[in-house]
Amino acid sequence: MPKPIKPSVVLLYLLFFPIISQAGPHQAAIASAHPLATAAGFEILEQGGNAFDAAVAVSATLAVVEPSSSGLGGGGFWLLKRAKDGKEIIIDGREKAPLAAHADMYLDKQGKPVPNLSLDGPLSAGIPGLPAALAHLANQYGRLPLSKSLDPAIRHASLGFEVGDHYLRAATSREHILQSYPASADIFLEHNATPKPGFRLVQRDLAATLQRLAIAGHAGFYRGETATKLVEAVRKAGGIWTLADLQQYKIIERQPIVSEYHGIRMVSAPPPSSGGIVLAEMLNILSAYDLQDSDSVTRKHLIIEAERRAYRDRDAYLGDPDFVDIPTERLLSPDYAAGLRVAIRTDRATPSETLNDTPSINPQGDHTTHLSIIDKQGNQVAATLSINQSMGSGFVAEGTGVLLNDEMDDFAISPGKPNAYGLVGGNANRIEPGKRMLSSMTPTFLQTKDRIGILGTPGGSRIISMVLLGVLEFAEGHEPESWVSIGRFHHQYLPDVVEYEPDALSVEDRHGLEKLGHTLKPTPRPYGNMQAILWDKKAGLLKAASDPRSEGAAWVRH
Ligand code: DON
Repeated sequence: MPKPIKPSVVLLYLLFFPIISQAGPHQAAIASAHPLATAAGFEILEQGGNAFDAAVAVSATLAVVEPSSSGLGGGGFWLLKRAKDGKEIIIDGREKAPLAAHADMYLDKQGKPVPNLSLDGPLSAGIPGLPAALAHLANQYGRLPLSKSLDPAIRHASLGFEVGDHYLRAATSREHILQSYPASADIFLEHNATPKPGFRLVQRDLAATLQRLAIAGHAGFYRGETATKLVEAVRKAGGIWTLADLQQYKIIERQPIVSEYHGIRMVSAPPPSSGGIVLAEMLNILSAYDLQDSDSVTRKHLIIEAERRAYRDRDAYLGDPDFVDIPTERLLSPDYAAGLRVAIRTDRATPSETLNDTPSINPQGDHTTHLSIIDKQGNQVAATLSINQSMGSGFVAEGTGVLLNDEMDDFAISPGKPNAYGLVGGNANRIEPGKRMLSSMTPTFLQTKDRIGILGTPGGSRIISMVLLGVLEFAEGHEPESWVSIGRFHHQYLPDVVEYEPDALSVEDRHGLEKLGHTLKPTPRPYGNMQAILWDKKAGLLKAASDPRSEGAAWVRH
């Protein structure tokens, strides 16, 4: 039985911390999902760039060398902290629904979702935000011109690189859809089939598109040759984009969600990502339990019950804040969490309310990406970037090399019906022209007097529960290797099951949780790809770790 401890709301601490100016770590660290991307970040730091220039280089290089996960045809959230004045901001480069989009665009005449319409092909693509975010990052926060920071990405696109297992798995899983579009098959397949190991991926059109972005900045993508080619290709293949969609796209700078857990100041993504609010709500619920001294089954049960409640609120309340009113203050309030906690029983699972259909759970793994950076001065970046499913929509707009996202599926396509991640949603996240679809991306900073943590991961709806487990590891004093490698389990309210990595639960855990009434379901394979940095200021140590489940690279250098 967990001992309740007093929830501490250290307001002064929250207000005080951001403005403390601090000397940097005198070293830099970068953790990303690909060694070439991590190397690109260091290349730019060595040329006098700061963490924000490095973030441009890493993001753009990931777009080239990890094309299954993110890209110019996608979007993301870049959480920044500027060392000189403590400014914390998130760049919301989330995709937007095209202006011709409407609530029932993926439904048949009977009002049922048409299978895969929101997942495959150009109709599934939102208007990309990544190019706009890179231009903004360079202009507003960087020291180097955008063109310099895009150099490594352009080089890898034009010269090519040897693909790894991650790419081959992604291409296999989406081979069929890539085969439907010649421009996609030409680039990503070999003789119209998944390439063999050792395949060199050369992306000349993408190099030229990046070059136009490098030369003309934002307008180099959203206007002129690139925009025209994108719109022509999309419309020719049945999509609904117009030039006006691209011309109107703007990133938005938003205030991050700031919360507190056991003396840790947490800074994370605000709506239109659900990440920060759901993470804070779960930790507010958990803050009254002594998880460290709880037995293993009770600890996991309490985490699952907190997840169930916070993910329910995600479904009910969260969407694009420019379109819907979100009761943020209430959802973040410790009193609200206390109310939810009252109904948690330690001796029994709370059944989630059921809807008519049992949502299915789809594999989530080889898509979306995360990077964490700190430079010598202490500038910080945590960015999670996506084209949604593996290889996005599978559609490359001819002549651009840009693989478009299928992020439209993150909307509630039909209220109450699950999306690719089994998430259901309602009005708050219904499709509207120009609206941003709700995300789970959770780039996060953690801060105590002595330690700074930077972390995030891909993984669809499971992103937030993975970050939660990472935060708990940080809170209990563990090293970043353990944040990124700890066994993962996840509950998202609906479907009412606990998904777990095959090795995450012991036999005793499984029996104990089943006895409490939880339904357990192992995932087919491990999931997530967390990239993390710890700056231990007291010990004067900088550490970085990349998820052992994939092929990322985390380096610390002078
Ligand atoms: O924004 C989101 O929440 C999703 N589009 C992220 C997708 C993702 O992480 C896929 N994961 N492996």
